Amino acid sequence: EPKIITDKNEMREWSRSMRAQGKTIGLVPTMGFLHQGHLSLLEEAHKHTQVFVVSIYVNPGQFSPNEDLSTYPSDFNGDIKKLMSVPGGVDVVFHPHNLYDYGMGSVGNSEGGIERDGVVSCVEDGGLGHETWVRVERLEKGLCGKSRPIFFRGVATIVTKLFNIVEPDVAVFGKKDYQQWRIITRMVRDLDFSIKIIGSDIAREKDGLAMSSRNVHLSPDEREKALSINRSLSKAKAAAGMGQMNSRDLINTVIESVQEAGGKIDYAEIVDQESLKAVEKITSPVVFCIAAWFGKVRLIDNIEISG
Ligand code: PAJ
Repeated sequence: EPKIITDKNEMREWSRSMRAQGKTIGLVPTMGFLHQGHLSLLEEAHKHTQVFVVSIYVNPGQFSPNEDLSTYPSDFNGDIKKLMSVPGGVDVVFHPHNLYDYGMGSVGNSEGGIERDGVVSCVEDGGLGHETWVRVERLEKGLCGKSRPIFFRGVATIVTKLFNIVEPDVAVFGKKDYQQWRIITRMVRDLDFSIKIIGSDIAREKDGLAMSSRNVHLSPDEREKALSINRSLSKAKAAAGMGQMNSRDLINTVIESVQEAGGKIDYAEIVDQESLKAVEKITSPVVFCIAAWFGKVRLIDNIEISG
């Protein structure tokens, strides 16, 4: 059974005692409601380090007041059971109540925010009684950043806090959240964190739907329609493989299929795998990224195309 730690000082002490024993530490940050996608990151982490920490923390700092912080699903006991089934096990589950909790004003400037367990979400001008934010300035602006302007600021900041608390040697992120993975990789490079970042492949349901904690909010009908995302992305990749290298044409075909299935497109873009800059013709490795709404659920997915 994994050891459950809720206190950040105890977490840091545990990591330091492991390091003193010469062990390397892996970290997989999550917001809980674990599924096979999360567990596949752990299997990846096992390849690189000797002891493993999974963090489970729904970070209010990355939700805008109009987003789903209060309905974000959770099932801590179920999560622990799933973690016990991971081959090789998990040493620690780090499960803090509130990482912005430093006494006075801990939920400070929260007017207009939404609440979860007594902690209030973030607002544009700060909130959470917190003033210091990490921004990866260009990478955070495109794709998901357009409709979620404070999202990556919240992610980069909480991941920095987790890195400083857990002090891992290796941290694993899923390519399901491609932009997030690239942003963290860039942040680690720019700020000289001595942590190796690993990107792990997207885990999918048998029918191709990318696994996500938010999938539980899809009705059976919406779930069926959401398959159009992966199906049309796979077709676009196949078309590129056959020599269709014009991004606009590929994007239009995908948009049409997803809209036909009843999805509402947030964005559909073909971008360079590293810079995430849009490309017009596929001549180098790119990734086709998409976000679309099915009912009240916003889904993201992507597919790498080697070019
Ligand atoms: P969460 O959505 O819980 O995801 C945690 C990790 O699991 C992320 O690295 C994500 O990319 C990965 N993941 C989710 N679904 C996946 C799938 N189907 N296949 C592969 N990997 C998958 O992402 C977050 O939490 C948060 O933003 C966090 C990084 C924890 C910061 O709060």
